[in-house]
Amino acid sequence: MSETHGPLRLGVLVSGRGSNLAAVLDEIAAGRLAAEVRVVISDHPAAPALERAAQAGVPAVAVERRNFPDRAAFEKALAAELRQHEVELVVLAGFMRVLGKIFVDEFSSRVINIHPSLLPAFPGLQAQKQALDYGVKIAGCTVHFVNEIMDGGRIIAQTAVPVLPEDTEETLSARILAEEHRLLPQVIGWLAQILTRQL
Ligand code: GRF
Repeated sequence: MSETHGPLRLGVLVSGRGSNLAAVLDEIAAGRLAAEVRVVISDHPAAPALERAAQAGVPAVAVERRNFPDRAAFEKALAAELRQHEVELVVLAGFMRVLGKIFVDEFSSRVINIHPSLLPAFPGLQAQKQALDYGVKIAGCTVHFVNEIMDGGRIIAQTAVPVLPEDTEETLSARILAEEHRLLPQVIGWLAQILTRQL
């Protein structure tokens, strides 16, 4: 007799606002996403995302880089927290740090990130401003697997968004963000189907 796998167990890493985390939690609460957020971890104790997690009854933990002697020790602590909550997929949702090879290998092919550009264009900070400054007419967002190169892992899915002549960084960011909130839960849903399939 084959065992049935429950909802995909997620660990979400955040640094700030947490609107993508909220989008994932909302989809789960609405019964549209077969996943469960087991833990939310922030490298900033004051991140609003931690409050959002706590409101949803999800363990919300701060793991600060400054409390560890080096990056490896910091990442080991992140990994231990994720393991403790039996996380199967790590979701970076506005986590403002590049993770090293040891962390990435430990969760091999099980770490994804959302980025507000059509990668490989405009990696790094202020992607929407980079797109506006360059003058592209199509921007968007990308969900990709994470490797040790910033915004450099294999692309899973993208959504294109028009850049309008009157756009400011704020208006373009808002248009992209609305699509991020659709794309991230959608990709998690796909991965949930694959990773929880009983063979
Ligand atoms: C999003 O634009 C995401 O693509 C980027 O950081 C931002 C995080 O926003 N990586 P939020 O914290 O999810 O609201």
